[in-house]
Amino acid sequence: MDAAIASIVFSVLALGILSYTIKLANKYWFRPKQVEKRLRDIGFGGNPYRIIFGDAKDVEGMRAEVTSKPMELSDDVASRILPYHNHLVQKYARIGIMDPALVKEILSRPNDFRKPSKDQMAEVLVGGLFTSEGNVWAKHKKVLNPSFHIEKIKNMVPSIVDSCTEMMNKWNVSLDAKESVEVDMWPEVEALTFNIMCNTLVVGRSIEETQKIYKLRVKVNQQAAKLAKLMIFPGWWNLPTKELKILKEAHREIGILIKQGVTKRLEAMKNGASNPGDMLGLMLEAYQDETSGFTLEDVIEECRSFHFIGPESTARSLVWVLYVLSHYPEWQEKAREEILQVFGDQKPNVEGLSQLKIVTMIVYEVLRLYPPTSMVHRSISKDTKLGDMVLPGWVQITIPITLMNHDPDIWGEDVKQFKPERFAEGVFNSKMQSIFLAFAGGPRKCIGQSMAMVTDKFVIATILQRYILELSPSYLHAPKHSFLLIPQHGMKLVVRKRV
Ligand code: HEM
Repeated sequence: MDAAIASIVFSVLALGILSYTIKLANKYWFRPKQVEKRLRDIGFGGNPYRIIFGDAKDVEGMRAEVTSKPMELSDDVASRILPYHNHLVQKYARIGIMDPALVKEILSRPNDFRKPSKDQMAEVLVGGLFTSEGNVWAKHKKVLNPSFHIEKIKNMVPSIVDSCTEMMNKWNVSLDAKESVEVDMWPEVEALTFNIMCNTLVVGRSIEETQKIYKLRVKVNQQAAKLAKLMIFPGWWNLPTKELKILKEAHREIGILIKQGVTKRLEAMKNGASNPGDMLGLMLEAYQDETSGFTLEDVIEECRSFHFIGPESTARSLVWVLYVLSHYPEWQEKAREEILQVFGDQKPNVEGLSQLKIVTMIVYEVLRLYPPTSMVHRSISKDTKLGDMVLPGWVQITIPITLMNHDPDIWGEDVKQFKPERFAEGVFNSKMQSIFLAFAGGPRKCIGQSMAMVTDKFVIATILQRYILELSPSYLHAPKHSFLLIPQHGMKLVVRKRV
């Protein structure tokens, strides 16, 4: 009898192990190999599929090599920022799509080409609207959209003026004693855009609270950069490393501070305080309207996400604008002439911003050469038609914005040159709409595009009105993709007062 039971238990166990092994083999070998074959049949190249890590170690090696030293002062940066392409990466088949017509199709069909399933790092670094999908995304977008109307964006102006003045006052202290001062613009613009956007999106919070959140976020970003190498290991989120522990703790503390701020404002609203109409206020109004389906958790999540996503992308565009202005003094002079013509020595205002044609062209050209978001990703869950091909389900798609922006087939033979004139007609004509992808496109294009452009232009106008910028002899040119594009060794500029 015992032997019979043991034999049944053994058989059940053996069957269980067998079916689990088949499942694993299917997931990690047969299915990827099948997908690889289908991709090759329709013309995609890349390395053969390799189990578990795929190309991730090679990619990491290429990244480490290109970032091991700075480069010459050139705008030919694509192969440094994305030194790999069209590889089959990790346990998924990943393809790169660079044809503008196909990219447009992908971005305009968000229900077929969805954001890849969330990983823990995406949740920590972005989250909210950025990573949500389907009905949740639609609900959040409806609530958040009004915060980005141009009338709301105009409310940013006092915050931009105050934050710029604070930054420049520090420079002035040094400039009172000497003719010029070396400034690392990277931490400066990071703190600047954080203050500007947080004070706009969440009105009335104390400087101390904003600073606390900022410092914690700097910690999160530092740890995330260190952890990038670890992320190729399955289950990396649970590894007992010091970096992960610090990151998780800082993320948790940010969550607590944001929640405290949200509940404090809610109480004030309940007690009759007026709503300044900022993003937090609009979200809390939606929360109080039971028909909206917007929960308090939604408010906290979006509030957390928007504290970082906007300031960090904008800082990454602004820092490269300051670089090109310093590297191309003739363009700096043209921009300054225009700014002085429009504003004289008066504080820049929103009305005048639309007259800054040269400054706008420069910002767009920088977004082309140095796009803060180097690539965007999509995935498909079933066989999906794209152009005249059918992509096999389970494929991950990368749109390598940086590579597209440096592709002569798309932009012409002068693609590697800094030529703001190419944006003389702006970006809203039909040709530019399909190739200018710094803010992506389709229904999920960047919600903060106007906010970022206004911030960039205002800050540039305020700085160039007063100062002359030059690259410092100690500046090392090293654009690096680290979740977003950063200057690996900072952005050291020499600042002197305009006479
Ligand atoms: C120069 C600055 C910026 C650049 C280059 C940029 C770039 C982008 C790109 C490429 C996407 C699409 C990502 C994808 O499809 O996977 C995106 C989406 C998004 N951006 Fe920006 N962004 C900038 C500034 C901002 C600002 C200022 C905010 C908010 C304050 C913001 C909030 C968002 C959000 C919430 C999304 C997700 C939108 C959705 O999925 O509906 N961004 N951004």
